[in-house]
Amino acid sequence: MSTKHKIILDVDPGHDDAMAILLAYKSPAIDLLAITTVAGNQTLEKTTLNTRRVCTVAGITDVPIAAGCDRPLVRPQTIADDIHGESGLDGPRFPEPTVPLDPRHAVDLIIELLMKSDGDITLVPTGPLTNIAMAMRQEPRIIQKIKHISLMGGAYGFGNVTPSAEFNIYADAEAARIVFESGVPITMVGLDLTHQAVATPEVVERIRALNTPVSEMSVALLQFFASTYKKRQGFDAPPVHDPCAVAWVIDPAIMQTKHVRVDIEIHAEFSYGRTVCDLFGDSPRPANALVATKLDFGRFWGIMLDALKQYK
Ligand code: RIB
Ligand code: CA
Repeated sequence: MSTKHKIILDVDPGHDDAMAILLAYKSPAIDLLAITTVAGNQTLEKTTLNTRRVCTVAGITDVPIAAGCDRPLVRPQTIADDIHGESGLDGPRFPEPTVPLDPRHAVDLIIELLMKSDGDITLVPTGPLTNIAMAMRQEPRIIQKIKHISLMGGAYGFGNVTPSAEFNIYADAEAARIVFESGVPITMVGLDLTHQAVATPEVVERIRALNTPVSEMSVALLQFFASTYKKRQGFDAPPVHDPCAVAWVIDPAIMQTKHVRVDIEIHAEFSYGRTVCDLFGDSPRPANALVATKLDFGRFWGIMLDALKQYK
């Protein structure tokens, strides 16, 4: 009987998405069933190519990679090239990808895996929630089949793409609203948590010391990420957001959470994409998410390094 957590990772690489893939694939606590891609940090074409690039370097050849939605449900597409660069994964030099793309659409693959499951699959979206929302609309029966959603997105403090909104939610707030109102148990790993998961120079040197192709790629990714986060948002070390959503699945005790009501703003001019987190329990609406607040920094980088050490 496997005690591994079965997950589907939905990504928009993205430097931190790449680190989430590396963590999920080698963590002993995770059974990575599929990687699905979505438009987000860059276009779908680029996020999908980047996923294949990372998996090629990492030797991840036994996990299906399926491309999903190429635009948000309603709003115009927005990208984060100011942080992730023109390719969406600037920094490392990549070989031509050899890992193939699964011919199925990501939404169809998500539905297929969930419908044939025993209800034991956790979805881990680390980009806009377009694929997840589309799957819920295309096949509502999956709602009862999703064990949990651990997502990177939102914030109860400041946003990062507007003062109110975090990128993954802002890039498709209508999709986020569908997901947060679905009734599926959610862990919201937002900026309040992920801004604690910074790749300090000491952490980067621990990764560099592994001296493998994956560690070399990771260092190049983190160095570029550090440069844009310093330039754009004044960070001394870059917040590595997306692996935090995987880390909660691996070890929920790695972060403190609070079960609260979260509503997604989709109408307001200045706060579109805001995750309105009712931390004080005043809302008449039922709590729908575990909102992450405090990270065990040492344990987080410990599981990350343990996973990176598994790549040869
Ligand atoms: O706001 C941070 C999130 O937006 C991360 O998932 C990053 O990869 C981008 O998608
Ligand atoms: Ca991402």
